[in-house]
Amino acid sequence: GFGGGRRTAGVNFEPVAPNREDKIVVPKGYTDEVLIRWGDPVVPGAPKWDFENQTAAAQAKQFGFNNDYCALVPIPGCDDKWLMVNNHEYTAEEFMFRGWNKDNPTREQVEIAWAAHGQSVVLVERNRRTGRLEAKVDKQYNRRITLTTPFEVRGPAAGSQYLKTSVDPTGTVVLGTQNNCSGGLTPWGTILSGEENVNQYFANADKVTDPVVAARLARYGFPKGTSTRKWERFDKRFDLAQEPNEANRFGYIVEIDPFEPNQPPIKHTALGRFKHEGANVIVARDGRVVAYMGDDERFDYMYKFVTDGKIKHGHSKRAREHNKRLLDSGTLYVARFTGDSPAAEIDGSGKLPSDGEFDGTGEWIPLAHNNKSFVPGFTAEEVYVFTRLAADKVGATKMDRPEDVEPNLHNRRIYAALTNNTDRGKAGKEGATEVAPRLGNKNGQVIEIEERFSDNTATRFKWNLLLVCGDPKAADTYFGGYDKTKVSPISCPDNVAFDGYGHLWISTDGNALGSNDGLFATPLEGKERGHVRQFLTVPIGAETCGPIIDERFVLVSVQHPGEVDGASVEKPASHWPDGGTSQPRPSVVAVYKTNGGRIGT
Ligand code: FEO
Ligand code: CA
Ligand code: CA
Ligand code: CA
Repeated sequence: GFGGGRRTAGVNFEPVAPNREDKIVVPKGYTDEVLIRWGDPVVPGAPKWDFENQTAAAQAKQFGFNNDYCALVPIPGCDDKWLMVNNHEYTAEEFMFRGWNKDNPTREQVEIAWAAHGQSVVLVERNRRTGRLEAKVDKQYNRRITLTTPFEVRGPAAGSQYLKTSVDPTGTVVLGTQNNCSGGLTPWGTILSGEENVNQYFANADKVTDPVVAARLARYGFPKGTSTRKWERFDKRFDLAQEPNEANRFGYIVEIDPFEPNQPPIKHTALGRFKHEGANVIVARDGRVVAYMGDDERFDYMYKFVTDGKIKHGHSKRAREHNKRLLDSGTLYVARFTGDSPAAEIDGSGKLPSDGEFDGTGEWIPLAHNNKSFVPGFTAEEVYVFTRLAADKVGATKMDRPEDVEPNLHNRRIYAALTNNTDRGKAGKEGATEVAPRLGNKNGQVIEIEERFSDNTATRFKWNLLLVCGDPKAADTYFGGYDKTKVSPISCPDNVAFDGYGHLWISTDGNALGSNDGLFATPLEGKERGHVRQFLTVPIGAETCGPIIDERFVLVSVQHPGEVDGASVEKPASHWPDGGTSQPRPSVVAVYKTNGGRIGT
């Protein structure tokens, strides 16, 4: 048995063993099914999928590439209908185009890539007879947002001198969103989505002569010379030598209201600009809304934003429009973590210090509140647009790649995936700290944060490392104090989610232990805390993301199946999900209990 009973309800399944299969592997008694995949129709009139003859016009109506975050937004009053919102993070042209020539892309290929980015909004219904989810081509709500969809810039840096370009002298309208990684669902039924590795699509940072501008571009990793995808040949906004401010128009949290298909999506400058993994919110006891965020880069930071305004409850138009303004005004903070064990006990090996835990206290350091900056030498607009440089000035703590940072609504604590940091301790880089205790960290950790008095607006907190991931047989791993002989190996945590019981679910990206990535669950309370069990694995080369844990199903995004070194359309490493000799297709997968029962029971 697996410790059955109430204690483990929700996570009571037979763990899946690590493997290298080119399929989804689920526990005994479960079954999986693709809900939607790259190229499937989203909006009415979408042509049928034709890999060999793809066009930009078709892609703009079809499900985009490399789906990452996945949200199901409940339709008020309906138990069995949702608007599903998916991020399409990035394109991998070598898996999209036969005979791909990276040095000489065609305009059509580039425009297909632009259309394959952004988001999809798809009506999803649960068939009451079969119990299965179905994606619908709905004419009222379904929508594609791409790299050419106009976005409205809001918050304190809207209209800033740093956001003005030759095409947009107002600095308030940006075409498109890109590298949308993870995200969060708000209580008012919108989606927050993080623009993450936006630097990679730009060219010629080295041709920028102003040293201040060049230093800002360098802190965000904007590349020298031509870009990998050569988009600068087709739209000069990707050429920093011509349009250096276009860089400053990406790297935000964007908000999409799936119920208002005619409203432009929003870029929220108040939440700062960095490699946003995502943003997840909780309503504090006083009604203010708090968003938690990670900057996914080695040695970068964790942030939070506390709104000035309070939430209005209910689904009325008036309440929703009020709530959709909450993220325009508030205070942006960055995190500083302090360990409670002597520095001499943090030796970089991952061995627990004598108090038995990697833990300590911390504070949220304010960076700016609307038009007021708290950072010496920075105006407020500079804090919002060059947030990394502002945070550098105030002693923020360098983390091991903060991915999802998500409050658990059951206990008000915050859980963050620190995916890995193989550079920790390298020459010229920071070494081990109690919050990042391993040198050359390949497997990552999961941190638990408890705000003072469980008040999410507080500026002080306690923290501990819930999981120090890796091979449970290795001395440098820790599973919340649970017996390590009874847990599943877990490596490179990326996304976190919570089920209806408050258990933590974790999806992984980049498993450094040699098997495929997957989805894991662990209780957080009592004797079962840290009892990590693997719920599924994804096919070869894929990462698991966007998990949604409903009592009737689990949804996962299967991103970049077949993405392994040396693979291409000519040499596919995966044939999932269509099988045979087909090309791999990023997809959303639903998992059910075969007998129709509740997940994890
Ligand atoms: Fe796109 Fe931070 O993973
Ligand atoms: Ca300690
Ligand atoms: Ca991620
Ligand atoms: Ca990742």
